[in-house]
Amino acid sequence: MRGPSSSEECGLIELHEVSVTYPGAERPALDHVTLSIVPGRTLALLGPNGSGKSTLARLCNALLLPTSGRVVVDGMSTVDEATLWQIRARVGFVQQNPENQIVGTVVEEDVAFGPENLGVPAHELRSRVDDALGAVGLTGLERREPHLLSEGQKQRLAIAGALALRPAYLVLDEPTAMLDGEGRSDVLAALRRLRAHGVGIVHITHHLEDVIDADAVAVLDEGTVAFSGTPAELLADPQAAETLGVEVPAIVVLAEALREHGVPVPRDAFTAESVAEAVWRS
Ligand SMILES: Nc1ncnc2c1ncn2[C@@H]1O[C@H](COP(=O)(O)OP(=O)(O)OP(=O)(O)O)[C@@H](O)[C@H]1O
Ligand SMILES: [Mg+2]
Repeated sequence: MRGPSSSEECGLIELHEVSVTYPGAERPALDHVTLSIVPGRTLALLGPNGSGKSTLARLCNALLLPTSGRVVVDGMSTVDEATLWQIRARVGFVQQNPENQIVGTVVEEDVAFGPENLGVPAHELRSRVDDALGAVGLTGLERREPHLLSEGQKQRLAIAGALALRPAYLVLDEPTAMLDGEGRSDVLAALRRLRAHGVGIVHITHHLEDVIDADAVAVLDEGTVAFSGTPAELLADPQAAETLGVEVPAIVVLAEALREHGVPVPRDAFTAESVAEAVWRS
């Protein structure tokens, strides 16, 4: 009997010493990046404009191949054409602008498009579409024309389209960037539900606040991993985080100010509720 002989055979997306240099570019967009994406966990990916976040996202489902190094999805290398479609089915990708991904004339058609193309039988399509719409809170809008949806609903429709492929991983490139407060909290709630269902999530964002409960955070800087750890580790030194271009959430700044005034707010209090509780107890 043959057991897993290397970590590559376990369920993981592994980037190993990955570099990407776009044709004609002077410097690499990614430079020897090594990191893992674990099923059921959320990895937040932060970093300033041009640091390589979208490039990394496109590597995960073989939309882009590394110039050097390896990207391995559950044991399958993204350069192996024989397993390309298996990788695409395992790793869902949601672009920043949902308009670019809408293909159906009504919501349910749009969600069915991906699995239909993968040859999912008609009798299974209905349950896939219903489950995906349920997961993002769009049940009841099956017959709505996508262009009549709000921006937040469009983004959740794009997520449903990716979910209908029943992916093990979902990579989202700034899924809340174009949304107002309500649209944003709806998308974040949908992502929390997916994580609870065991989907591995890569959440690219400029707002640490959106991913404060992530299992892991990586901060890119000019194509290299400048920080890798937990949100609490990143915020243990707010000034260092700011140096990396990370916008420190207002609640963390408030907690720091309270501590300076002698209020014993724990260092891992990152939500309004936990800070309020510490103030209440003091
Ligand atoms: N298709 C492309 N061709 C050439 N260069 C590119 C291409 N896409 C990105 N780049 C360059 O690669 C670098 C990384 O870009 P990338 O889009 O990955 O950054 P990003 O972190 O997603 O930035 P943003 O926060 O603005 O979305 C940048 O210097 C960018 O100009
Ligand atoms: Mg980007």
